[in-house]
Amino acid sequence: MNSQVAGNSRVLVGSGLLSELGARVLGSLPQRPRCALIADENVNRLYAAAAVESLRGAGINSQTFTLPAGERSKSLAHVGAICDQMSRAGLDRTSFVVALGGGVIGDLAGFIASVYHRGIPWVNVPTTVLAQVDSCIGGKTGLNTAAGKNLIGSFHQPALVVADVDTLQTLPRREWNEGFAEVIKHGIIRDAALFESLPKAAELEPANARDLVPLIRRNIEIKAAIVAADERESTGERALLNFGHTVGHAIETAAGYGEMLHGEAISLGIVAASDLSTRKAGLPDDERRAIVAMLNAFQLPTQLPRGISRDKIKEALRFDKKFERGEIRFVVTPKIGSAYVATDVTFADLEHAIDSL
Ligand SMILES: NC(=O)c1ccc[n+]([C@@H]2O[C@H](COP(=O)([O-])OP(=O)(O)OC[C@H]3O[C@@H](n4cnc5c(N)ncnc54)[C@H](O)[C@@H]3O)[C@@H](O)[C@H]2O)c1
Ligand SMILES: [Zn+2]
Repeated sequence: MNSQVAGNSRVLVGSGLLSELGARVLGSLPQRPRCALIADENVNRLYAAAAVESLRGAGINSQTFTLPAGERSKSLAHVGAICDQMSRAGLDRTSFVVALGGGVIGDLAGFIASVYHRGIPWVNVPTTVLAQVDSCIGGKTGLNTAAGKNLIGSFHQPALVVADVDTLQTLPRREWNEGFAEVIKHGIIRDAALFESLPKAAELEPANARDLVPLIRRNIEIKAAIVAADERESTGERALLNFGHTVGHAIETAAGYGEMLHGEAISLGIVAASDLSTRKAGLPDDERRAIVAMLNAFQLPTQLPRGISRDKIKEALRFDKKFERGEIRFVVTPKIGSAYVATDVTFADLEHAIDSL
């Protein structure tokens, strides 16, 4: 097992790492004897005891704080409740936060760490495919509001990321599959060879999670390189990671948080972005079809489920933060393996892509 570096974070990916959590934390955050361990109810039941024991073995005292599973927990109300509980437990600015869970817990616990006592360090222990290949890198935290996804958030790099692939073995099939939407995205925007290799991964089951180690490392490398080129999203490079996300986020908002998993909504967003790419960026139609087929290979949705209103999606799009100053910046792919930000995509183009979903 080797370690990667992303921004200021050390990133460990491998098998058996959860039992080494305490020792690894000591290496990155010495002299911090207390932490808040934040998990959702599912992950708490499965992995909190092992994490607490490992931390205790390294002389670190942890208090566990639990939230309901799902996207709805990414709210200011939950942040307030957990911060109050942390204060009552006596955690202060010499403490740190451990996020144990998927992308929801990482986004929420990372946000808490960024504001608690004006910011304390945190360690991310991602336990979903999505969190290990994507959300654990880059230091973005986020909360949802009624108007849209991630409209509140901060940049706060974790001191350490510990991605134990063994934890992926307990993922339900649907949660396993959704993570590959972000993997497919990474292939489309940056790495055609990665994209070509994915049919092999589509044959894997959660029980074979250890076989994913090289794929997870490659995804971390891709995301870390893009983020390094544009840590605060100022040069435009980082925007490429939003491929599929403009429409995807609008679908999540329109469906109601928790109705679709993030990766499922992104799958539909990738279909819409690929459709727009054939019309605006010259993406060959056989490549567009290969993208849709790849999403299908991971049993991801490629057609809008009945019951999600297209009008609501369009309405949510108008509120999207990427339409600041009335300008639409939309990520397109001219060819699998590359992407750029187009400025000639109109709202009517977006409406057309949503109508074709
Ligand atoms: N910050 C970023 O850069 C970034 C990037 C991509 C996505 N995200 C965010 O990530 C979130 C989606 O993350 P997610 O898909 O991991 O969702 P999630 O955290 O809700 O996890 C999905 C489900 O899997 C369960 N679960 C987690 N680990 C498990 C395990 N090992 N075994 C069994 N069950 C387990 C959870 O309890 C939950 O029910 C979205 O809110 C999205 O906006 C953030
Ligand atoms: Zn995403």
